[in-house]
Amino acid sequence: MQNSEPERKLSVARRAGLAQLAAAGVPSPGADADLISCHVLGISRAELKLRELRGDAFTAAQHTRYLDLLARRAARIPLQHLTGEGHFRYLTLKVGPGVFSPRPETETVVQLGLDFLREHGIQAPRCVDLCSGSGAIAAALASEVPHAQVWAVELSDDAIGYTRANCEPLGVTVLHRDATDLPEVLHGTMDLVISNPPYIPPNAVPREPEVRDHDPQMALYGLGEDGLQIPRAVAAQALRLLRPGGLFVMEHAEVQENAAAQLLREAGFAYVAGHPDLSSRPRSTSGRAPR
Ligand SMILES: C[S@@+](CC[C@H](N)C(=O)[O-])C[C@H]1O[C@@H](n2cnc3c(N)ncnc32)[C@H](O)[C@@H]1O
Repeated sequence: MQNSEPERKLSVARRAGLAQLAAAGVPSPGADADLISCHVLGISRAELKLRELRGDAFTAAQHTRYLDLLARRAARIPLQHLTGEGHFRYLTLKVGPGVFSPRPETETVVQLGLDFLREHGIQAPRCVDLCSGSGAIAAALASEVPHAQVWAVELSDDAIGYTRANCEPLGVTVLHRDATDLPEVLHGTMDLVISNPPYIPPNAVPREPEVRDHDPQMALYGLGEDGLQIPRAVAAQALRLLRPGGLFVMEHAEVQENAAAQLLREAGFAYVAGHPDLSSRPRSTSGRAPR
């Protein structure tokens, strides 16, 4: 795939792309330039590096597409919206405008649930993901726990199509409804409830344009002065859903560490404990339903 236009060479285009994204303040300009190239070429990052070393180039049409996507990324449109994909644990999920892009810190929250199931030898657990968005948590549980029965609950009309697309092929039951008001038939039946609810307070508007302008408002703001109105209602619902001894894990902001522990205790959970994410920030809290 050689050609005579030097700017179309993958290595040259990468350097130019990295510089453009860095100038626009994109936090990981090199990785994003690479992932845009991979998307345009339909190849992995390892294959991209190989082709760069070989001196390969974009075709004219591919180069035009690369430049177009770079310009949109430089305008701080999230990479996941440009590629239509989000990576979460072992999965590639469908994402885009209208749904919250899954984050690496939520992978740790899923791991806490998996560790609990393994440590307690629960072979065929019943699990529910409250406030599912793309369905990242539910899909990860369904794909990593062979005999699990999993539910995903999402209220947003804009997000629910993504929840279904990512979860239903894995056998997850998707409920399009308020996660704080679930049918009584499910009460007392769950081994594990995980939630990454909206939790940002109204006065803490995120600075990053990707989050502030592109993640749905309904996914960000937890309502109430402290942003914890929805998390409180989710915790109360989680307690109703769990069987005695079942585990609830909830993600929250770093600064909400103490408030989250307090709200779980007030909801009636036992053994309330905070957990660090991979950068040692306190980003989730768990509790067990009393026996
Ligand atoms: C922070 S996002 C998390 C999405 C996904 N669980 C993840 O970790 O990537 C919160 C999600 O909760 C949904 N949501 C907000 N209020 C809800 C409610 N009362 N019932 C169900 N879902 C709700 C939002 O639409 C959004 O998809």
